[in-house]
Amino acid sequence: MTELLLSKPIVDASLVNLRKRAEILKNNGLIPRLAIILAGQNQASLTYTRNKKLFCEKFGAICDIIQLPETVSGGSFLDAVRTTSRDPLVHGCLIQLPLPEHLKDLELDTLIPAHKDIDGFHPLNMHALMRDAPASTYFCPCTPKGILGLLEFYNINVSGKHVVIIGRSSIVGKPLAMLLTNKNATVTLCHSKTSDLRSIAHGADILISAIGHARLIDQSFFSTKKQPVVVDVGTNFDSDNKLCGDVDFDAVRDLVSAISPVPGGVGPLTILSLAQNLLQAAENNVK
Ligand code: GUN
Repeated sequence: MTELLLSKPIVDASLVNLRKRAEILKNNGLIPRLAIILAGQNQASLTYTRNKKLFCEKFGAICDIIQLPETVSGGSFLDAVRTTSRDPLVHGCLIQLPLPEHLKDLELDTLIPAHKDIDGFHPLNMHALMRDAPASTYFCPCTPKGILGLLEFYNINVSGKHVVIIGRSSIVGKPLAMLLTNKNATVTLCHSKTSDLRSIAHGADILISAIGHARLIDQSFFSTKKQPVVVDVGTNFDSDNKLCGDVDFDAVRDLVSAISPVPGGVGPLTILSLAQNLLQAAENNVK
């Protein structure tokens, strides 16, 4: 029987804890506050930022969305990020990606100071992840952190396992490979130029897809010898504009031991991790 790796029980259980932590902060005169800088009208980004704001409101945090026009100049964009991230009332700050084409080459890595970089993209946070620093001392990128939380919740041990990740983005694939390596997994990081992707996938104990290609992962990625755990990080829209993952769920569900669906799998855990990072950032102000 294939196990469904659903995020709802994790989010529901975590919300209780998030509310408690926000309440303690409130008693210390502090309301956790997230600021999101959003340039342009990318539909997915508008949805993500709205969901982040709604989630913040669920546990007693404030979320400001600083909406800039698609045509905002590089200079004005940088000014907005600097002003927002320097605001002492803002505990966590992020730039919603992707950015409009003309802003993509801006030097952004250190613009948001590391102690407010709840995305975990600042070089200091990245380096802390690389050297396996204690979790409370830095911010871990949200989607990789959510995936680790999902595996832990369902008692899926990664130590000594062969984890195959498909997709090498800076937001998911690369930091996830590091995080899993720190947890003693043996990681193969695959991408669009990997040759013989399917035979690598056949050897996976855990297969994680973050390639951003609707239903790419079909029966051919699985052999009869192994029933891996599958984590689907994809948020894609098919030709009927229906939300779907990277994995062809119906085609593979009987070939795997456990699988996270889309929707209802990894997506909400990214927002949960962001909330946890926000509270960590806010709590650092009262310690
Ligand atoms: N766009 C899609 N995922 C993310 C994320 O985790 N952080 C930011 N800043 N933008 C995103």
